[in-house]
Amino acid sequence: MERFGKPLPSGAPTVVAFARHPLHPMLVTFPIAFLLGGFATDLAYWYSEDPFWARVSLWLIGAGAFMGILAGIAGTVELLWVKEIRRRPASWNHFVLAVMLLATASINWVLRYEDPVGSIVPRGLALSGLGAALVGAAGWLGGKLVFEHQIAVEQENEHDTDPLNLADHSDR
Ligand code: HEM
Repeated sequence: MERFGKPLPSGAPTVVAFARHPLHPMLVTFPIAFLLGGFATDLAYWYSEDPFWARVSLWLIGAGAFMGILAGIAGTVELLWVKEIRRRPASWNHFVLAVMLLATASINWVLRYEDPVGSIVPRGLALSGLGAALVGAAGWLGGKLVFEHQIAVEQENEHDTDPLNLADHSDR
């Protein structure tokens, strides 16, 4: 039980990476942009009743769900593989919200596939709004993993912490 009382040291390595750059942060940019864009185009359809916006929404939400699932696979491999990530409650909070987001986006796409125009008001719009809120919440918690817990941030070694030697004031 003692381990539950100990704060976890900050920092965790990445295992799903390209040339040492973690893939998950590269991939999440797509669902974030596509799903927020899908909410905006649903609002544009609601306002203008132009079916063009309904077709754009269908593509954005489908692409957002697809890219989100790819990003989720990369994130899940990190979560299950890396002990320092797995043991943090913050990682599981992010995971739960991300899975809710992916389920909402997928359902939103499936329900509007047959009738992209007629299914927007009110159900599609409500699901896109919920998706946008979940993007914000999941993205915020993902950011905490990186900026507060230093997950997938390369740890500098002792000798590299001051590469420009700024702390050396001997010549001033
Ligand atoms: C479904 C399972 C998911 C898991 C298990 C997961 C896990 C993780 C992990 C472990 C990190 C730390 C960085 C890393 O190791 O690469 C992270 C960061 C992040 N995640 Fe996820 N994630 C998932 C899905 C998503 C989705 C769908 C989004 C889209 C909103 C998202 C948004 C973010 C953001 C914005 C960061 C911070 C990236 C940065 O600032 O560099 N994640 N996630």
